[in-house]
Amino acid sequence: MQPLLLCLLPVIAILIGFSGAAAAQCIGSGSDNIEPTRTIVVDQNGRGNFKTIQGAIDSVPPGNNKWVKIVINAGTYREQVLITKDQQCIYLKGKGRMVTTITFDANHLTDKSATFSSFPNNVIVQGITFKNSYNRFWSLEDARQKVKPAVAARVYGDKSLFYECGFVGFQDTLFDVMNRHYYKSCYIEGSVDFIFGDGQSYFTDCVINATVGSNPYGLMMGYVTAQGRASAADPGGFVFKGGVVYGGGKLYLGRAYGPYSRVIFYGTTLSAAVTPEGWGAWSNQGKEGNIFYSEIGCGGKGSDKSKRVPWMKKLKEAQFQKMFGVSTFIDHDGWLAKHPHHIEPVRTIVVDQNGHGDFTTIQEAILSVPSRNNEWVKIEINAGTYKEQVEISYDRGCIFLKGKGREATTIEFNASDQTDTSSTFTSNPDNVVVQGITFKNSYNRFWSLSDPGKEWKPAVAARVLGDRSLFYECGFVGFQDTLFDAINRHYYKSCYIEGAVDFIFGMAQSYFDDCVINATVGSNPFGLMMGYVTAQGRSSEADPSGFVFRGGVLYGGGKLYLGRAYGPYSRVIFYGTNLSATVTPEGWDAWTYRGNEENFFYSEVGCGGNGSNKSKRVPWMKKLNNAQFEEIFGVSSFINKDGWLMENPLANTIRFP
Ligand SMILES: *[C@@H]1O[C@H](CO)[C@@H](O)[C@H](O)[C@H]1NC(C)=O
Ligand SMILES: *[C@@H]1O[C@H](CO)[C@@H](O)[C@H](O)[C@H]1NC(C)=O
Ligand SMILES: *[C@@H]1O[C@H](CO)[C@@H](O)[C@H](O)[C@H]1NC(C)=O
Ligand SMILES: *[C@@H]1O[C@H](CO)[C@@H](O)[C@H](O)[C@H]1NC(C)=O
Ligand SMILES: *[C@@H]1O[C@H](CO)[C@@H](O)[C@H](O)[C@H]1NC(C)=O
Ligand SMILES: *[C@@H]1O[C@H](CO)[C@@H](O)[C@H](O)[C@H]1NC(C)=O
Repeated sequence: MQPLLLCLLPVIAILIGFSGAAAAQCIGSGSDNIEPTRTIVVDQNGRGNFKTIQGAIDSVPPGNNKWVKIVINAGTYREQVLITKDQQCIYLKGKGRMVTTITFDANHLTDKSATFSSFPNNVIVQGITFKNSYNRFWSLEDARQKVKPAVAARVYGDKSLFYECGFVGFQDTLFDVMNRHYYKSCYIEGSVDFIFGDGQSYFTDCVINATVGSNPYGLMMGYVTAQGRASAADPGGFVFKGGVVYGGGKLYLGRAYGPYSRVIFYGTTLSAAVTPEGWGAWSNQGKEGNIFYSEIGCGGKGSDKSKRVPWMKKLKEAQFQKMFGVSTFIDHDGWLAKHPHHIEPVRTIVVDQNGHGDFTTIQEAILSVPSRNNEWVKIEINAGTYKEQVEISYDRGCIFLKGKGREATTIEFNASDQTDTSSTFTSNPDNVVVQGITFKNSYNRFWSLSDPGKEWKPAVAARVLGDRSLFYECGFVGFQDTLFDAINRHYYKSCYIEGAVDFIFGMAQSYFDDCVINATVGSNPFGLMMGYVTAQGRSSEADPSGFVFRGGVLYGGGKLYLGRAYGPYSRVIFYGTNLSATVTPEGWDAWTYRGNEENFFYSEVGCGGNGSNKSKRVPWMKKLNNAQFEEIFGVSSFINKDGWLMENPLANTIRFP
């Protein structure tokens, strides 16, 4: 045990003495009420409203409840910055963690040394590095210098979000005191207990750099976390999801700073520096049974668990999701979506048919995105009808396609026959976001019964395969098999979907929020008599797929079914949808899966409109009440357990139910 390790203990008294302020909701402007109402600029060289960050913060009145954005221009700001408990709803935005830095060198006490202290609820920080420069380059050879706690950031308030931030120090870098915090894509550097406290915090895709063992330090033992959960009822804990832990020397993932200390690493890459036993009980020896340390699905040379402490907990994937998914662990009240954190694409490419952009076709623009792309790239598509078949390959994720509105930007083609080759638009990778574009397959769009010369064949407008795909204000127009919603999780918000037969089909796990569905069966000029809105292909009880329609409206004539089974466990729910269409009284059809009716999950909850009378529906339709619906098919329980909807450039534009 090293002498420098005991200094954390005095703060426990403070933890007990502090109780969080009431968690109010901040008010903003814009249709979704989360745009900041006011922006203040801090610039060291006098080109803003303030020269110091503290000056800008002091201008926010106590009792503030409206989002205020404080933009901090590039520079190294040498000051200790404090946000008091009654200055809520502050959004600090730097110019990136490499260029906007707040640094100071106070030391000795964890509650006095912090370069940055944040007490109120509802604080957002983006693109800033917090540094404590005290003894940053301490080394074993330099024995006259004492190692003392020197905190870079101290975070108390509930609902605090740090995005693309840096935390740099040596001992006790990030004092994550208490309450719920979300750290996304952050960089955290230190040696000893450098992420500590009793916060209830999520660290997604963060780079953790343990400087123990590396030059110039020479220190041999380091601890990434010192989590201080006090009792079985204490909600505190640190969850690391994805990301990487670098370091040298003899590195522990954590040691218990409280008798119920709780830390989980999930899917993180752990470097070789991690010592085989992995964890320590510290001053809680003998109470190991209450400590909750776990590693699940981690990789890297330090991830071998065969020699870990025997009291490490085992977690299965399903248990992790249930207890430590973003929504269950810190976001059950949906606060993350109500915070104005913007994820800005790193680069924008413009497509313009008339040569006023970087490319004249959409496919060329997509091919210009490098293979294995992992940074958001925005492709803006100017108004026009683009006659091309467009495909995004598996290795080009993180693309944001933005048209000029679904009435103005259209991608159209007329291939037919096969569902997997006819599609006008095919999206393979994970993390694709689309806004304001209509995808159309024009093949036989105006087919009619009186036109027997033309064949009626599948003709897909869009085929979506990747996970974490989001379509906002888009159009999907076709006749048969318009939207091939193939597999994985997709969210369609305020979209328009038109077709006649099985026009929303596939095995995906999808949410259709506030969409307009137009079944053209029975309407002129088609004249076709029978139509099917969905053909969902869930294959087993364990298959997570299904289509949930929430709100929105269904139009259509003829004899229209809400769905027919395209798999033995087909699952479709309409919730609060206006069924204006002439839905046929039985509503649903077993198609080729007769005999499996009990395994289908078709349900209609709180729908209105002329087609919503359920008195003559098929007897095997499932009953759901509102509470059951929210529990199983609410946005966070059904498709957003890992919080992906908050991790894309539209997260702040879309209001999720
Ligand atoms: C870790 O921190 C040290 C000291 O600041 C630095 O030299 C090194 O480049 C960092 N490593 C990574 C992977 O960021
Ligand atoms: C698709 O459109 C092209 C050009 O507009 C036309 O030449 C072709 O015949 C059409 N193909 C089908 C299958 O309708
Ligand atoms: C439905 O689609 C048909 C054919 O494109 C169109 O004529 C009609 O206006 C659409 N109805 C609605 C409500 O959008
Ligand atoms: C459903 O939509 C129709 C047509 O837009 C409208 O007239 C009707 O009032 C709506 N019904 C409900 C229950 O919202
Ligand atoms: C609902 O049905 C009634 C009776 O058939 C009809 O008069 C009315 O126009 C319909 N309303 C809508 C919005 O379709
Ligand atoms: C639903 O349909 C049944 C039978 O056709 C009818 O008796 C009942 O009044 C209808 N309910 C509503 C709310 O229109």
